[in-house]
Amino acid sequence: MSRVYNFSAGPSCLPEEVLKECAAEMMDCNGTGQSVMEMSHRSSAFEPIIEHAEAQIRKLMNVPSNYKVLFVQGGGSTQFAMVAQNLGINRKKAAYIETGVWAKKAAAEAKHLGVEVDVIASSKDKNYSYIPRVEKVSGDYDYVYVCFNNTIMGTHYEYIPETGDIPLVADMSSCILSEEIDVSKFGLIFAGAQKNLAPAGVTLVIVREDLIPEPEKCLPGTPTMSMYKTHSENGSMYNTPPCYTIYVLDKVLNWIEKNGGAKGINKLNVEKAEYLYNYLDNSEFYHATTEKGSRSLMNVPFLTKYSDNDGSEEAQAKEKAINAKFVKEAEAAGLVNLKGHRLVGGMRASIYNAMTMDGVKALVKFMEEFAKNN
Ligand SMILES: Cc1ncc(COP(=O)(O)O)c(C=O)c1O
Repeated sequence: MSRVYNFSAGPSCLPEEVLKECAAEMMDCNGTGQSVMEMSHRSSAFEPIIEHAEAQIRKLMNVPSNYKVLFVQGGGSTQFAMVAQNLGINRKKAAYIETGVWAKKAAAEAKHLGVEVDVIASSKDKNYSYIPRVEKVSGDYDYVYVCFNNTIMGTHYEYIPETGDIPLVADMSSCILSEEIDVSKFGLIFAGAQKNLAPAGVTLVIVREDLIPEPEKCLPGTPTMSMYKTHSENGSMYNTPPCYTIYVLDKVLNWIEKNGGAKGINKLNVEKAEYLYNYLDNSEFYHATTEKGSRSLMNVPFLTKYSDNDGSEEAQAKEKAINAKFVKEAEAAGLVNLKGHRLVGGMRASIYNAMTMDGVKALVKFMEEFAKNN
């Protein structure tokens, strides 16, 4: 069977080279006679793998030495709580910039845990199709929270809000290592791995050491597993880590390094995204849903001309039918997972690091044909 081009928002495609290596080592990794799936996490075979993965993150992201790199479980959603439990502890007040579903969920979780949430800016007025400009934040906040790349809405910060002494927290689940980032501008960065780094199961946390509280300082009732200290003191091995996912992560990091690191990968990402956005911006049949200046390189939602309708039942049914037809015919052509999120409608192409330019060109070629026929 031939492989498809997978435009899934996550879990998503992985570099073929990495998958082949994993396959080759499935029965015997590094002469151990075992798969990494079978290894004890405390073994001399596994420990170098997690250590190397951490070293690669430090190298590729140029992580300053006063930051901890942690591998934890529970996905991005658990970080929504852990950020509040570990950082929202002094003034019990935080500022959130509302840019769509994932930022809202994070704010709701903080509120749920008793942290007062100030929504200091929002792009709700235009269905989150842009990133609000917040140049400077001040106030008695424990932290300022942003979702750096909004997977559903397809928006991305092209600037870093200036927060002075207030730690800036960023959810980079869908843009981690897709670009160069100055880690020192952030107090904490987290990212679920299942889009740009690995299969699902591990979440990367990069946190400035002085922000990691002593256990008794965390919000009351914080479980041991939800304290950053637990993971930082135990080299991310307080309990059994997702060993196989970390092994694949390490291979993906090596692949990123081979492709020029964050800088080299970013160049390829810009080329891919420009190719697709240029096509959308010049098309009479399709249009992108996001504003220029806020566009994600990773997630590209788009609608067809049938979305500009009078809202009648008939017109809406026609639009729905066209979208369904697009997704079905694309799938038959080997281009999968292009259905848009219900909050935006239409289609969404997620073109993470591992998506090739060939994949993006194949998509645009299909789109051209579809537009001609419909
Ligand atoms: C930006 C962002 N943050 C958080 C999440 C939630 O991640 P998880 O499913 O790992 O909890 C997602 C999921 O797609 C996401 O796109």
